Amino acid sequence: MSAGPPLHRPRRLRTTPAMRELVRDVRLHPANLVWPTFVVPGEDRAEPVASLPGVQRYSVDRLLPELARAHAAGVRGVMLFGVVGDGAKDPLGSAASDPDGPVPRALREARAAFGDDLVLMTDVCLCGYTDHGHCGVLAPPRPGGAVARVANDATLPRLAEMAVRHAEAGADVVAPSDMMDGRVAALRAGLDAAGFEDTAVLSYAVKYASAFYGPFRDAAGSAPQGGHDHHAAPDDRRTYQMDPAASRAADVEVALDAAEGADLVMVKPAGPYLDVLRRVREATSLPVAAYQVSGEYAMLEAAVAAGVLARVPAVTESLLAMRRAGADLILSYHAVAAAEGGWGA
Ligand code: PBG
Repeated sequence: MSAGPPLHRPRRLRTTPAMRELVRDVRLHPANLVWPTFVVPGEDRAEPVASLPGVQRYSVDRLLPELARAHAAGVRGVMLFGVVGDGAKDPLGSAASDPDGPVPRALREARAAFGDDLVLMTDVCLCGYTDHGHCGVLAPPRPGGAVARVANDATLPRLAEMAVRHAEAGADVVAPSDMMDGRVAALRAGLDAAGFEDTAVLSYAVKYASAFYGPFRDAAGSAPQGGHDHHAAPDDRRTYQMDPAASRAADVEVALDAAEGADLVMVKPAGPYLDVLRRVREATSLPVAAYQVSGEYAMLEAAVAAGVLARVPAVTESLLAMRRAGADLILSYHAVAAAEGGWGA
């Protein structure tokens, strides 16, 4: 029996660029992009990060023109990570709440330069400021155990203090990335008590213990002491960040953070966790952010450098995947270049 000519021809909607654009259901727009960037102390510093070609760490004076570039390209958000020298680190991560640290300084200057036109976000976590490199303060070993643990409840006031310092300096959004239980409630209470009831909390609600953070830890100087060998804990973050094989844990984390008052929630990493992103999109009505992390950036750039992928279409497709999976906003080290180039817009 012959089938005859096809009745349905989906190709009709792909005939011309205008037609394809007309029927798209997701788009990339610069206003949905957030540019994560690293701030160092001092003056006139713009240091390349070896593991992230194209990414630099800036002192505040050198950061300002980069923020102007992001703003001119239509990017509406920046996420600031502070990086301090080893001499400034201690077991409690005290420098995290220094009002004259690189992040508060950058916030004050960015607020003065851009007013309300740029959403200023900050990463709230101790790992860049502790000498042991963990995201919280340490507790004694379990009875009979040999290794120190990361203390949950003792870390919470440290994080709340850091968030308040950022709010005082002008942060619109504070983003806890430490994965301590109860941190959203602790930040909310701390911010409200200090009079910052309008400062929003973007929770890194669903943050997996991922190998894809490796290049970031070079950039931020925040690798946990002992490297990545999980047989020699406390050497990694698996007792607080989520197990990559646990998908329902995402539901638990999002529900808790929403109940604690998170204004936005994040899924991180993004590309290897698109299923989780979709799941979170369906589980909450809060805005959902996706973080295309350092290892995702490094993989794409390595493939481009090797001549096996074309940067613009490959990066565009990777960002579109996040929008398709349900992300409202996307944090990406490619944000400024993508916005400037109009990639996929
Ligand atoms: C701090 C933090 C990390 C990232 C964002 N905030 C590193 C980590 O948890 O080890 C990773 C970002 C990236 O890889 O681009 N806790």
